[in-house]
Amino acid sequence: MAALDGKAALVTGGSRGIGRAIVLRLAGDGATVVFSFKDNEDAAKQVLAEVEELGGEAFAVRADQGEPADLEELFAAAERHLDGLDILINNAASGVPTAILDATEEDYDRMMAVNAKGPFFAIQRAGRVLRDGGRIISISTLNTVMPTPGVAIYAASKAAVEQFTAVAAREFGGRGITVNTVSPGATDTELLRATNPPEALEQAAAFTALRRLGQPADVASVVAFLAGPDSGWITGQNLRATGGLLV
Ligand SMILES: NC(=O)c1ccc[n+]([C@@H]2O[C@H](COP(=O)([O-])OP(=O)(O)OC[C@H]3O[C@@H](n4cnc5c(N)ncnc54)[C@H](OP(=O)(O)O)[C@@H]3O)[C@@H](O)[C@H]2O)c1
Repeated sequence: MAALDGKAALVTGGSRGIGRAIVLRLAGDGATVVFSFKDNEDAAKQVLAEVEELGGEAFAVRADQGEPADLEELFAAAERHLDGLDILINNAASGVPTAILDATEEDYDRMMAVNAKGPFFAIQRAGRVLRDGGRIISISTLNTVMPTPGVAIYAASKAAVEQFTAVAAREFGGRGITVNTVSPGATDTELLRATNPPEALEQAAAFTALRRLGQPADVASVVAFLAGPDSGWITGQNLRATGGLLV
């Protein structure tokens, strides 16, 4: 029997990058997965095909995490496709770097809407419907403790998610629900490559104790552990899955 047989999971931003790896891993471990994407329907369909190849079951829903009505529709879709809910993975985020001197009010509002408000209301909705013993895992970033130029709003939005995690762990713990954050280091995705020049990626790999960039599957393994039965005594934590970029 696989670790997540019979479990129902909702993953935001599952069409590419780390979210895609999480969908494949959870589905491969036996969970039925509903995942959201924003624009990239072809990538979402590709993930559905890959899940089918694994012998798993998944459903894709277009839902912009920055739009409250879309989040409502995502949870309604999860209710239609899944028999209850055991696992929420808050993964989708906007990561466009903006220097403080250049940032507009619109940049600020949009990033906070997608990266902080969306995950907060996803945690609230999941908290209402998760079965006892459920799991909430949100993806943050090492930037909350290793800030670099351009990430002020991004890091602040993720710091909010880390705080939601800590408080939700206390609020939901009486039902055996664990709530944790996973903070990846430099992980080889389109987001990372779009926001960093190649020399910055080489530097990050060289400075990482394990001497390489993370792969999405490296992060998905950590998420799968926290989503699974062996992590029930871990809650309210921020697990830094960085290969030792920060030690
Ligand atoms: N890569 C890294 O080095 C790194 C490091 C630390 C933390 N993280 C965090 O890891 C998570 C995943 O990042 P990634 O590198 O995998 O990003 P990515 O390669 O850009 O993939 C982002 C995924 O999220 C979806 N998405 C983006 N904005 C969305 C929105 N407004 N509503 C719904 N879905 C949305 C995308 O959907 P479409 O395909 O439709 O665009 C895609 O599936 C993020 O929370 C990020 O902050 C990444």
